Amino acid sequence: MDKKIKVKDIKVIQAPLAGVSDCVYRGLIREYGSKCLLSTEMLSAEALNTCPNPKGAILKYNNSEYPLSFQLVGHKPKMIAKCAKLLEDKASVIDLNFGCPVNKVVKSGDGSAMMKTPELAQEIVNEVKNAVNVPVSAKFRLGWSRSIDNFVDFAKKMEEAGADFITIHGRYRSDMYLGHADWKKIGELKGEISIPYFANGDIKTLDDAINCINITGAAGIAIGRGIIGDFSLPGRIENYLNHGIKENEPDLTEKIEMLKKHLELEVELRGAQNGIKFMRKFYNYYISSVKNAAKYRQVLVVCDNYDKIVGILDDILCLSSAN
Ligand SMILES: Cc1cc2nc3c(=O)[nH]c(=O)nc-3n(C[C@H](O)[C@H](O)[C@H](O)COP(=O)(O)O)c2cc1C
Repeated sequence: MDKKIKVKDIKVIQAPLAGVSDCVYRGLIREYGSKCLLSTEMLSAEALNTCPNPKGAILKYNNSEYPLSFQLVGHKPKMIAKCAKLLEDKASVIDLNFGCPVNKVVKSGDGSAMMKTPELAQEIVNEVKNAVNVPVSAKFRLGWSRSIDNFVDFAKKMEEAGADFITIHGRYRSDMYLGHADWKKIGELKGEISIPYFANGDIKTLDDAINCINITGAAGIAIGRGIIGDFSLPGRIENYLNHGIKENEPDLTEKIEMLKKHLELEVELRGAQNGIKFMRKFYNYYISSVKNAAKYRQVLVVCDNYDKIVGILDDILCLSSAN
């Protein structure tokens, strides 16, 4: 796949997920047939500035992942631009995180706190745009809270500053991850900006994707948690948007197969102990449809032996097919 991307060709984006969307996860999305724009998890500009070649999984990627967006979070325009320059050779897109709601991030004015300082966000986009020769995007929410509902104005500011496209998560910072993303609200952007906007939040199925695009009028969608437990979702959405083909959702056998691959590759990347620990947050997504899922999950999240985990997964499949 090509590193270079034409913004007008983007329809599906894998939304960044810290602690989730590592090179294994992204590679599996490709393996299950998607050409979507993949994204790294957020990279702190402060951390990257101190240590430009971090050890560990965070900056690992493979060429098969292209097109691949690198996301930066921070609040110092010149420092972020310097980090963007550092990543330019690897990145298909530099994405700026103005949407993260967690306290640890917003307390320094980063992430969604940036929606309270739109001029600073604009300066960041502008500095990054001047520093690099790849498309620059910004990802943000509807606003800090319902009483500071400024996403249309914020989107206009992003466009003025030179952003090539934007992604809107249809929640306020004050919502954190509660409730349902407000797709109708995202639709208020129709006709307000000339750059493409991508809608994000609570897209878990192909039908969600179709409804979300219809309601928001967006150029496409960004999917985060909907991919966990179903790496085929982005590819199935693209297949529908590009060719009108509706493929079936994976059945349990296919999901367990995906989970085994995910586990195997995380263990290869991180080593047995860390890989097995890392996988614990994912089991529920894969097996939620199974009878007694909670009981199986309880067993899986304490098991630290690879072969035993694989054995439990085989048992789940066997018992579920017998029912
Ligand atoms: C565990 C987790 C980690 C996330 N990490 C990031 C991140 O690094 N950068 C970012 O822009 N958004 C991050 N998000 C937000 C998602 O990209 C996305 O906007 C949000 O989950 C809503 O979309 P979804 O319902 O499709 O998951 C994260 C969300 C979750 C749940």
